[in-house]
Parts: sequence; structure tokens; C-alpha cells
Amino acid sequence: MATGSINYQLSSLSSTQQSVAWRSPSNIAIVKYWGKHGIQLPRNPSVSFTLDAAHTDTKVSFTEKIEKDGEVSIDFYFEGAPNEAFANKIIAFLQSLHIEFSFLLDYDFKIESSNSFPHSSGIASSASAMSALALCFCSIEKILTGWPTDASDFLNKASHIARLGSGSAARSVFPEVAIWGTHSDIEDSTDLQAIPFDSQLHKSFKRFHDDILIVSAEEKSVSSRAGHSLMEVNPYATVRYEQANKNMMATLEALKTGDILSFGKILEEEAMTLHALMMCSDPSYVLMKAGTLAVVEKVRAFREETSLPLYFTLDAGPNVHLLYPDEVEDQIWPFIERELVPHCVDGKVIRDRVGSGPRLI
Ligand code: PMV
Repeated sequence: MATGSINYQLSSLSSTQQSVAWRSPSNIAIVKYWGKHGIQLPRNPSVSFTLDAAHTDTKVSFTEKIEKDGEVSIDFYFEGAPNEAFANKIIAFLQSLHIEFSFLLDYDFKIESSNSFPHSSGIASSASAMSALALCFCSIEKILTGWPTDASDFLNKASHIARLGSGSAARSVFPEVAIWGTHSDIEDSTDLQAIPFDSQLHKSFKRFHDDILIVSAEEKSVSSRAGHSLMEVNPYATVRYEQANKNMMATLEALKTGDILSFGKILEEEAMTLHALMMCSDPSYVLMKAGTLAVVEKVRAFREETSLPLYFTLDAGPNVHLLYPDEVEDQIWPFIERELVPHCVDGKVIRDRVGSGPRLI
């Protein structure tokens, strides 16, 4: 499977190390993954921008156990403090990985993790957190066994492991643009892991902005696990999966050719479809807040008036991602700051961009 020229300085890992640390970013889906089956297998393919500013730093230290007790042993610290709720989730996740990582039961692990964004900001941290964790454990495997020797095998495994932790995390492993899920017209695409976008990303999309407006920092009203499962009985599911397959090809074409107009149209259609699917689910959920709708309307009116390429997307929550090319930042940011930031909790915005992927720290 092609992983281009991605290297991430894996050669700097040494067999004498007893700890490893990765910084891994969040990502924002252009074509959304919504609906899954089996063990984190997507019902439709998705494509995302890898971000930069919104990231998780995770360090894993490991020492060989004196007595092997057949259990996964971890100490987990989130932002410097022990966190039992997270630790229990991670233990359950690692227990499920003992086939993938034969060394898991032989070591005591200390995991220290922190996010670049506040935990209560309403930003889903599972993509950055699970990809950082997956990269750390793949690195430990490399330190202990020497495998994988090849960067592409390493990244393919890291994406696969990240997917088992949180589906969308599979995409955070690759720089700029990642594709996850089988599509008959996309070579090497698979449900098992993400793959990098191997065509040249058009220069208009390099360093594309994503200003994340924190419209609400409340806990999500429906978990993403429950949201995905609602698709199993959603009457529009089949049509939706067809639409996603069609949008994949149109998005990849737009990313290649620099067609920002087509990109923006699909971006917004995907966001609105995701929310519409939740509204017509049983039970029904409205994930937007009044501020979300106000921002959407203002973005549309601004575009109408100025013809500037400012587009929005949403994840399964109320916060709004505002996407635009770097070249128009000076014309767009003053509008965002003046008109849209007042809709944010305490004026909170995460100013992010398309990023170059995870890195060893
Ligand atoms: O990775 P999960 O299970 O949290 O699902 C994420 C789903 C969306 O963020 C709504 C869309 C996507 O493709 O990232």
C-alpha cells in the first residue's frame, strides 16, 4: 500500500529506549463517516483534512514486569493527573489488542497524555488521542522487535490500530488528506485502515484554514457510538451511503484540481446531511444549537455578498468548522472575528489548518 514519502523519522527509534512520545493531530472530515458495523468498519468511505493545532501529545514509558500475570498493566495520567475513567477505557482497548501486540502483557506501561485544546471545549479528542496512542504502541513494537522496518508498514499498522480505538482516528495518521473506507474507484482503499491521498493536493488546499468555533462546550447529547448505530435503522441510510460514495470521487477530483467551489458545495452538503440524518433518526437528535444556525446563516450571507470562498462543516455536534484558503485570510478573518466569534462560548476559537501529520516528540 502506497504511503508516499512519509517517514516521520522512525529511524531515530533505538532498541534501548524505554519510552516513546508522539504528537498526533485531530482531523476534519470532508465526506463524513456515519454508520458502522462489525469491529469499527465504516458503512461508507470518508475523506478528511489532517489538522495541526488541535492535537494530543502522548508519552508511553514501559518496564518489563517481574511477574507476568496475564493482565494489561497501565498507569494513566491525563493533563498531569491520574484519570481512572480514561484508564479503564484504555485498559479495555489494549486488552483487545493482545493479538496485534504480543508484548502487551509483559510490560508495565505508564501513559501520559494531554491535549492542545481544553477537554471541555466540545472538540472530539478521540481521533488525536487514539492515533497518538496507536503510534506509541507501534513504536514500542518497533523498539522491542525491530518490526516494522519500513515506514509504510508502520503507518499502515498505526492507522489500523487507531481505527480499532476510534474509527475516524485511522485518518489522523497521514499528512494533509486521508481516505478511509473501501471505494471501488479508489485504488488500495480499504475499510481496515486509512490511506494517504496519493495524488498531489492542489496548492490552493495546502495550509487551508479551519477555524473551529466553539459554539457550545457542553457534553455531547449522543455519543458517536450511539449515533453510528442509529444509521442501522435510518430509512435514508442506503441513499446516504450512495451519496457518500459519489461525493468521495467529486471531492478527490476537487482536491486535485483546486476546484474550491465544488469542494465547498460538497463540504456543506455533507455537514447538513449528517445533521439531517440525526434529526430523522429514531430517537431524533438536534445537534445544532441556536448559535450554530446563526453562524451557518451568516456564512451563507457573507458568501452571497462577497463571493469569497468561506465554507462551513460540522461534526456530530454544535461546533462549526470554517474552512477557507490561506490567500483570503486577510479578507475573511476580520468577518469571522467581528460577526461569528460573538456566537462562541467565551469567544473561544481554535485557529487550525491543514497539517503535516503526526510527529515523534
Ligand atoms: O470516529 P467516531 O466514531 O467518533 O466518528 C466520527 C464521526 C464524524 O466525526 C461525525 C465524521 C467523521 O468522519 O469524522
